[in-house]
Amino acid sequence: MNNAAGEAGQQAKPPLLFQPIAIKSVTARNRIVVPPLCQYSARDGIPNDWHLVHCGSYARGGAGIIFVEASGVEKRGRITHGCLGIWTDEQGEAMKPLVKIMKHHGAVPGLQIAHAGRKASTQRPWNGLSALNDEDSARGDLPWEVVGPSAIPADEGWLVPRQLAEDEIGGIVTAFGLAAARAHASGFEALEIHGAHGYLIQSFLSPLSNKRNDGYGGDLAGRMRLALEVTREVRGRWPGNKPLFFRISSVDGSEDGWQLADSIALAKELKALGVDCIDCSSGGNAASATVNLIPRGLGFQVPYASAVRAEAGIMSMAVGLILDGAQAEAILQAGEADLIAVGREFMYNPFWAVQAARDLGIDPNFDMWPAQYGWWLEKRERTFKRMGHKR
Ligand SMILES: Cc1cc2nc3c(=O)[nH]c(=O)nc-3n(C[C@H](O)[C@H](O)[C@H](O)COP(=O)(O)O)c2cc1C
Repeated sequence: MNNAAGEAGQQAKPPLLFQPIAIKSVTARNRIVVPPLCQYSARDGIPNDWHLVHCGSYARGGAGIIFVEASGVEKRGRITHGCLGIWTDEQGEAMKPLVKIMKHHGAVPGLQIAHAGRKASTQRPWNGLSALNDEDSARGDLPWEVVGPSAIPADEGWLVPRQLAEDEIGGIVTAFGLAAARAHASGFEALEIHGAHGYLIQSFLSPLSNKRNDGYGGDLAGRMRLALEVTREVRGRWPGNKPLFFRISSVDGSEDGWQLADSIALAKELKALGVDCIDCSSGGNAASATVNLIPRGLGFQVPYASAVRAEAGIMSMAVGLILDGAQAEAILQAGEADLIAVGREFMYNPFWAVQAARDLGIDPNFDMWPAQYGWWLEKRERTFKRMGHKR
């Protein structure tokens, strides 16, 4: 060791990104999270080998927490026919191998529970990402009735949702609670309520999609009611010592839509109900899924995570175009978020986390890599050095 800390006989602290973090009784080995990533590859809501490899590879690649994709709490609450579900005990049982492989490779296994609301009954992205149509029906993917706060479709050509009657909403709240109980029984150690992207909960939150004038609409308190009832129910069924996340669309990206101040107000309420971390995404409720109302740039949603953390006094997770370890570390060092979620970059490189450790200079010898790979890669690195080859 030749740095000052070394000379003083002290161990330099690793970058914040690689310092373990405790949330309730669960400790993640680092602050790197794989956010939920729908794979549209399930049958009847049940995961298969694809999901096993998908989740397993990120755990093997060093992620701290991995959230399995949006899993429907009701059959009609799936986005597509290929989405995962957790509305039956059989589905909960089928999640156990995913939990096992993530834990085996040192990651905290998490699940996102969701109801797609008016954005249900859509095509897998590679089939068009719009409402199911006759062509899909011919393939066996029949459309189903979608529900929402008001009879307003998510976009042109999408199904018009049936407005939920006030006395139907309790059933959905219960479904979220039962899903949470199943997630616990499956062995998940972290749970996230999907309250973003124009799906059911967020469509109730936003004045763009919620035009109700009963107890679930109108002012902010009315529009927040479903989100808070779901959270209360889930918290009651999800062990108090296990972390609960809530994903928000921090803003709709439209002047007459949901604003950051609303998100901060919501985050305060969620904190009071026992939510541990707000996962700060954005958009998805207005215009089509393919049009971005919020301008894109590296870390474009970080300011939302920062504001929620500072104003609501709750842990926050930053997500969206966070590409490398240095960028992630800078966000943590600046106190803008507690956790860093990395989605598509993990799809691009399932070894993103251990790669980031190397980039940040804390794993020169591939010790953080699985031994089966690290041993050879370290040897190859020495060969590179002898060759004078710089990478
Ligand atoms: C293939 C794919 C599937 C996604 N599925 C979900 C999902 O199930 N639930 C969710 O809240 N967000 C979902 N998202 C959004 C991601 O969790 C994440 O917020 C987004 O990709 C931005 O982060 P990134 O730039 O690091 O990819 C998905 C994104 C992608 C690319």
